[in-house]
Amino acid sequence: MKKFLVIKKKINSFNKTIKIDGDKSLSIRWVLISSLSKRKSIAHNLLKSEDVISSINCIKKLGSKVKFFKNKCEITGNGFDIKNKDKIYLDAGNSGTLARLILGLLINSKNQIILKGDKSLSKRDFSRIIQPLKRFGAKFGFKKKLPLTMKGLENPKPIKYVEKKGSAQCKTSVMLAALKTNGSTIIKAKKSRDHTELLFKNLKIPMKIKKSGKYDLIELKGIDKVSPLNYRIPGDISSSAFFIVLTILSNNSQLLIRNVNINPSRTGVITILKKMGANIKFINKKIYKGEKIADIYVKSTKKLKSINCPPKLNSSAIDEFLIIFLVAAKSEGISFFKNLEELNQKESPRLIWASKILSSMGVKNIMTKDSLKIYGNPNLNLKSKITVKNFLKDHRVFMMSVIAGLTFGGKWSIYDTDSIKTSFPRFLKIIRELRT
Ligand code: S3P
Repeated sequence: MKKFLVIKKKINSFNKTIKIDGDKSLSIRWVLISSLSKRKSIAHNLLKSEDVISSINCIKKLGSKVKFFKNKCEITGNGFDIKNKDKIYLDAGNSGTLARLILGLLINSKNQIILKGDKSLSKRDFSRIIQPLKRFGAKFGFKKKLPLTMKGLENPKPIKYVEKKGSAQCKTSVMLAALKTNGSTIIKAKKSRDHTELLFKNLKIPMKIKKSGKYDLIELKGIDKVSPLNYRIPGDISSSAFFIVLTILSNNSQLLIRNVNINPSRTGVITILKKMGANIKFINKKIYKGEKIADIYVKSTKKLKSINCPPKLNSSAIDEFLIIFLVAAKSEGISFFKNLEELNQKESPRLIWASKILSSMGVKNIMTKDSLKIYGNPNLNLKSKITVKNFLKDHRVFMMSVIAGLTFGGKWSIYDTDSIKTSFPRFLKIIRELRT
């Protein structure tokens, strides 16, 4: 793959049907949870991206057997036992989800775990997960960032935990650790994606959930074995969002995206774009193992309105703000997004990057540490040269820049083409499909 991508021309009108790669959150969760069963689990349409391959490499080191077929993956795990080695070296690559979840999964490891990640992951915050896992009884090297060391214990103690950031990674990590205790863990979690709860329900893991206002109350009992989990992974809405926005901002185009996960804890992007006037419909809705699935139909939208984005939508759109900001740039009026401090905790400080890219496009914007005001311009049409080089190689910064180049014009040189391999390896292939 070339190291950078050059875009010199806007995309022409298109009218196509596409399929998007499998959901990343569900793929990583399926791999990790399957490693807990001694029997064979099968997944279809598992995302074959670097984050998922890193997850597979980690569970193989812990003793799971993994086989790949054409569109199928089989995992035979090793139950709750962890291979008896002195030290276990794990590499989470670029994936915050894998790194945080696997620490919870390994709460009962008496061996020392040494966990590392790439340059981007090594800058991210791990104190958010070290704190609750310490309360289960785990011991950590004193660093709050990767690489870090953790030593678990044979009988972790159940805890009461309040998760205030709306982080599904922290919630899930604690849920995985709770499975290995001898008692009930109580989690009060600010609302965030609920894939783990739905997967645990499918596995009949003893759990009670009370939903109220901003928080969910989860009571989870420890168990001693997990059943196998067969799963057909639906398409990823976070990956679909790039194509939804590409269509909205293109002229006279229509797109049908088949079989996407539209779990309400992930569809903030759709709610926000619809509020801005976008023409998006869910069709062929169905339920699969508790997850809502649909085909997404989207049409170019000429008149887009600005938004004062309600912060209650932040968690359900957290990975899509970069692409939503492009729609704000083309809208009539001033858009305002607030309480977004978590955006700077991602693969790169995304609020800062969004502001930088918008400024290089000539879009007036005002950023604070947790908010962004964007002065929209419905006639935005670029002629200038723009170079995007994100030294942390953030896949979503790359894909946002590609969509901007294809819809606003200008001459773009976008570095780090390889970054898409972490979450959406077929991204550029689908762009080519739409161009032909
Ligand atoms: C994820 C949760 C989110 C999201 C990430 C995937 C998950 O992170 O940004 O891409 O699969 O649980 P936080 O839980 O840190 O908000």
